[in-house]
Amino acid sequence: MYGKMYSACLYGIDGVLIQVEVDISNGLPQTSIIGLPDSAIREAVERVRAGIKNCGFTFPLQRTTINLAPADLRKEGSAFDLAIALGILCTSGQLVLPGDEKLLMIGEMALDGSLRPVTGVLSMVDRAKREGFTAVLLPKDNAAEASLIENMNIYALDHLKELFALGEKEAADKNAPLRISSLAGLRFVSGHPPGQEAHQAEDYADVLGQHHVKRALTIAAAGMHNIMLIGPPGTGKTMLIKRLPTILPPMTEQEALETTKIFSAAGKLKEPAAGLLRTRPFRSPHHTISAGGLIGGGTIPKPGEVSLAHRGILFLDELPEFNRQVLEVLRQPLEDKCVTISRARAVHTFPARFMLAASMNPCPCGYWGSDHPGHPCTCSPARIAHYRSKISGPLLDRIDLQVDVPRPREWTKEKFSLSSADMRAQVLEAHERQVRRYRMLQMNWNSELSGTALRRFTKLDPDTADMLHRTIDALGLSMRAYDRILKLSRTIADLDGKENILSSHVAEAIQYRNLDRPQTETPV
Ligand SMILES: Nc1ncnc2c1ncn2[C@@H]1O[C@H](COP(=O)(O)OP(=O)(O)OP(=O)(O)O)[C@@H](O)[C@H]1O
Ligand SMILES: [Mg+2]
Ligand SMILES: [Zn+2]
Repeated sequence: MYGKMYSACLYGIDGVLIQVEVDISNGLPQTSIIGLPDSAIREAVERVRAGIKNCGFTFPLQRTTINLAPADLRKEGSAFDLAIALGILCTSGQLVLPGDEKLLMIGEMALDGSLRPVTGVLSMVDRAKREGFTAVLLPKDNAAEASLIENMNIYALDHLKELFALGEKEAADKNAPLRISSLAGLRFVSGHPPGQEAHQAEDYADVLGQHHVKRALTIAAAGMHNIMLIGPPGTGKTMLIKRLPTILPPMTEQEALETTKIFSAAGKLKEPAAGLLRTRPFRSPHHTISAGGLIGGGTIPKPGEVSLAHRGILFLDELPEFNRQVLEVLRQPLEDKCVTISRARAVHTFPARFMLAASMNPCPCGYWGSDHPGHPCTCSPARIAHYRSKISGPLLDRIDLQVDVPRPREWTKEKFSLSSADMRAQVLEAHERQVRRYRMLQMNWNSELSGTALRRFTKLDPDTADMLHRTIDALGLSMRAYDRILKLSRTIADLDGKENILSSHVAEAIQYRNLDRPQTETPV
């Protein structure tokens, strides 16, 4: 006797469909699973055996072979339990399921037959839908998340018995199969709103002065450029960066699905019932984080902070406090916009298209160059050099805007303060221009420009090009820095509503390379 069910697992953050084939034949009663299972799947047999018995059915006393296909894929996790159990019951003639829908089954089973939620359901159901499935049967705790994929029938249950309660025995015959003609009784109706913007309590209006920093933050948000704020303690660096989410453009439907899938795969979707994530992620890991925590890892690789920040912001407060080796692993995702994690049997790729926002003091004591009356800087040049060298050149190269945040002066008495709404309006307009310009290129941001597209959309007139070349030579900047200045100039021109990049735009872009400059003003 042969039967087939469909389940799914997570591969990185993508869902993959798995065929669960069951063959029951005469022979010694033994059960085997084939198809590269990991230990969790071997344990699945024992869970399923107990679950079936505890629901009043019998586990076949025959030779039972379960094949998980495709065979060459390393399967992980416990999401196949439900499909294995129902596959065995149907193949052994104890159960008949309705055949009117192409049904996916996901769920881990406990020994008593109750079902436990699994991570990554969003990606699995999304894949199933694209492969023509129309329905999914899964644990109730996963139902709200699954229902984020539209036009799928979601059938949810806490316990196998709820499924069996829908069935009828055809005859008085004890050996007749339990026939379930419809799953409608398990239908899950989602009550989530189509997604809502989080209420923003913080506003840039709270920040007095620091106009040039707000300008730099506006540019960063408009083109998704990396930014670093440098200044003495208490000048508002953390405060300024924390407000960045209030001026970012909303996520597109596609972006919302992408980020929600990552959170789902990481098991970090707190309230799936609230709909897809609608606000861009803002991640601020503590400086004690490990390299694995930052880029992802584990035997079953899970996305790290750089992927959780995908389409949003990764905020590294007090950058030099982070372990240097940890910071170095940022270089690859910053360049490739994704993270690659190699395992013996598989290579996982997680998206990591984020804006890096960082803050740091200018020196270990924090007061260098701040002419603070009560706090003269006490650091030796060697200590300052050591402190700054924690942030390597290649990392600094990738930070487009390096901005000084000085101590407050007269402006603290100012009445006027640019609000988040003002800044956001500028960002949205500049972003619109980018979306229109890059429509055919499937990208949305100037920071994503590369290769021929970069040359094509950042053409400079001869005089401006000349000025830029001279600056690059004088500051000894890299080719990467050169490209990044071009992209930043593109964004500044977009904020200015100009299709052509002018020399003033390039000049502004260059002056944001603060730390790259020869440090002639270093104290002696
Ligand atoms: N420009 C400003 N306008 C209004 N309040 C400010 C400003 N700058 C600082 N503050 C106040 O000072 C507090 C400290 O600011 P914040 O923590 O952002 O400083 P910081 O630059 O990150 O300092 P550190 O280097 O010590 O981390 C803020 O919570 C805010 O109350
Ligand atoms: Mg701070
Ligand atoms: Zn100092």
